[in-house]
Amino acid sequence: MSDVDTESRPADGGEATAEPTSRSTDSSILEIRELEKHFGGITAVDGASFAVERGTITGLIGPNGAGKSTTFNCITGVHTPDAGSVVFDGDEITGREPHQIANRGLVRTFQIAREFPEMTVLENMMLAPKAQLGESLWRSVMPIARREVVEQEAVTRDRAWEMLEFFEIDHLAHEYAGNLSGGQRKLLDLARALLTEPEMLLLDEPMAGVNPSLEKKLLEHVHELQEQGYTFLLVEHDMDVIMNHCEHVIVMHQGSVLAEGTAEDIKADEAVVEAYLGGDV
Ligand SMILES: Nc1ncnc2c1ncn2[C@@H]1O[C@H](COP(=O)(O)OP(=O)(O)OP(=O)(O)O)[C@@H](O)[C@H]1O
Ligand SMILES: [Mg+2]
Repeated sequence: MSDVDTESRPADGGEATAEPTSRSTDSSILEIRELEKHFGGITAVDGASFAVERGTITGLIGPNGAGKSTTFNCITGVHTPDAGSVVFDGDEITGREPHQIANRGLVRTFQIAREFPEMTVLENMMLAPKAQLGESLWRSVMPIARREVVEQEAVTRDRAWEMLEFFEIDHLAHEYAGNLSGGQRKLLDLARALLTEPEMLLLDEPMAGVNPSLEKKLLEHVHELQEQGYTFLLVEHDMDVIMNHCEHVIVMHQGSVLAEGTAEDIKADEAVVEAYLGGDV
């Protein structure tokens, strides 16, 4: 079914021949198997396997250095994993370029927001991947095709405004992104990710540096988007957010999955409490 090259991918090919993860089901939208990533002598991800159910808000937690961001980087093509596979919506996407993965419908935000500070908020939005057809040479010399590009840009601009209104940062559209607060930058990052019309979003600590009222708003938006059919995988250190908003929680420790289950399961798991939560839950 897929139109994408799978020749150079690991041999499991997306059929049910590979060893399933503990929660792998037909309704999984993302499945990672035995993922590994090393940096010199450091093993950042060490055989991590998990699946994310379509339409859920799933939490990914674990102590600092557990490998959460590196896992996100391997899933979204920022890093090429040293071993293992990533299957998104039935397609093997391991080792593909970030823009290919984004175009396929899997988009992430960064732990440190990566906007362009010397461009305005609206200009940053217009740079979102897949947001434009591109101004290739033949398009610019052919009047009809050129009109198509101009029209596409107008559509993108309208969508960008809608998204800024949704996150209530439209009043900042002409502000330089560098002048935004940390929380507003997180909202811009999320708005920009959504402009690509993904199916699934990986959010790396979206609440860090966000004030409580903005955090509440952001979480409301995440739930609203979930109702529209989006799937979320959320890295977050705030346990209240994880416990109150995620229907499933995956715990990473030293590069692999230590436990997974409902928030209640996780709170009661002795290994998790010892490795991460301390005695305070
Ligand atoms: N580009 C890199 N080069 C070298 N080491 C790295 C690199 N990225 C991550 N690491 C190391 O890999 C390990 C896992 O880091 P990672 O950032 O994935 O953890 P994390 O779970 O996201 O932690 P945090 O909660 O602090 O964000 C750490 O030991 C980190 O120092
Ligand atoms: Mg991290």
